[in-house]
Amino acid sequence: MDATTGSTVRTQALVRQFRTGAERLTAVDEVSVEITAGSAVALTGPSGSGKSTLLHLIGAIEQADSGTVTVDDTEVTALRRAALARYRQRVGFVFQRYHLLPALTVLDNVIAPVLPRRGRADHVARARELLGAVSLADRERATRLRL
Ligand SMILES: Nc1ncnc2c1ncn2[C@@H]1O[C@H](COP(=O)(O)OP(=O)(O)OP(=O)(O)O)[C@@H](O)[C@H]1O
Ligand SMILES: [Mg+2]
Repeated sequence: MDATTGSTVRTQALVRQFRTGAERLTAVDEVSVEITAGSAVALTGPSGSGKSTLLHLIGAIEQADSGTVTVDDTEVTALRRAALARYRQRVGFVFQRYHLLPALTVLDNVIAPVLPRRGRADHVARARELLGAVSLADRERATRLRL
């Protein structure tokens, strides 16, 4: 995966079902798509049509019941724990529900996902750089609890 050119993503007959009690709902029903590296794609459809679920499968946040996800030359759906963890670290996600931690500051929310990696000093410098890039440098100490 290259930060400048991106990656090609392919899904083949991807299926994800949810079971609630006796009911079985097919959220993603044999979806086959190819998204070429560098392209920008909008996935549209009514609420509940499975857009988020498809993205979760591509990002390996959820596991498919059948079918494959392939990113460049890697079949993501065949990866095991350690390789899967490495893959997830390379996928950027802006969640529909932001999953921000309201008790943490803006700066700490930016740092939180990468805390298990490298030293904290690195994280702070990089997080400040990113906040600056989106004009939020002056908000780094703000929290949801006292904005
Ligand atoms: N964890 C889950 N357990 C049970 N059902 C789920 C779960 N996640 C999603 N679903 C169901 O799967 C279907 C697809 O949901 P999904 O969130 O992918 O839709 P969406 O297209 O992203 O909708 P929206 O436009 O509202 O974000 C919905 O019927 C939803 O209720
Ligand atoms: Mg959604």
